[in-house]
Amino acid sequence: MNVPEPKMRILVWDLPTRAFHWLFALSFIAAYLSSEDDWLTFHVTFGYTVLGLVAFRILWGFAGTRYARFGSFAYGPARALAYLRSIAERRPEQHVGHNPAGSWAIYLLLALGALTGALGFLTLNGPQQWEWVKDVHQVMGNVMLGVACAHIAGVIAGSLAHRENLARAMVDGYKQGPPGQGIRSSVWIVGAALLALAAGFWTAAWRGDLPAVTAPAVKRVAEHEH
Ligand code: HEM
Ligand code: HEM
Repeated sequence: MNVPEPKMRILVWDLPTRAFHWLFALSFIAAYLSSEDDWLTFHVTFGYTVLGLVAFRILWGFAGTRYARFGSFAYGPARALAYLRSIAERRPEQHVGHNPAGSWAIYLLLALGALTGALGFLTLNGPQQWEWVKDVHQVMGNVMLGVACAHIAGVIAGSLAHRENLARAMVDGYKQGPPGQGIRSSVWIVGAALLALAAGFWTAAWRGDLPAVTAPAVKRVAEHEH
């Protein structure tokens, strides 16, 4: 596993995966920061974006390129622990795509995004007396923040251990890896479509063209003010 191999710059993350990543991180942070009453329209717009992105990522986990597919980063807990041990002992296991520990954070973040979003939908549209849904929604949002911070700490630790800027790889798609192991296409058209769809959704919501998305939030804020 740790046999030194020649390395070169290879394309690892296709554009849809990179676009998904930064839209997901941005939407989560925007939803989190706008979770106070006055910003509910904003909050709901970014919350729905998180939900839509999770749906997209699940599809892309089956239809995407090699390292975007779930099959390429399906590791059990023993593998995750072994990887963490390899980092602690300064003989880091090499992985071209997601490493076994990072994979767990990724699945957790996707699951928490779906759960928090669904609970938010129920907080807004479910029966008024379901106060507990709002509380669980808030707790899940905070748990997600905790996992996201652990994820960022993991990215920093992994970057130091492997002497490679992993965050930049999530921007341009390239990592150091064995020749011949790169993906051939960045599938930019799907990535561009995802970015355009998100921008279109935000613009339409902002302009008030999507009453199904924004009207319940506007109504709730008005009720609070009375
Ligand atoms: C702003 C600081 C952030 C940086 C620098 C960052 C960086 C990265 C990097 C480098 C990876 C790839 C890890 C690997 O090499 O295996 C990754 C993956 C991922 N990150 Fe982040 N991240 C950030 C914030 C977030 C936030 C806030 C979230 C969610 C709330 C998030 C969710 C994810 C997910 C779901 C993946 C998996 C990507 C995929 O395969 O679809 N990240 N991140
Ligand atoms: C993953 C995305 C989301 C995150 C991280 C998130 C986070 C939060 C947090 C932390 C709060 C508590 C704010 C407070 O009272 O201090 C909150 C409240 C709320 N969220 Fe979300 N949320 C998300 C998605 C959604 C969605 C999709 C909806 C609706 C469709 C929604 C609707 C609400 C509502 C109605 C409240 C209660 C506001 C109030 O009356 O005080 N959220 N959210």
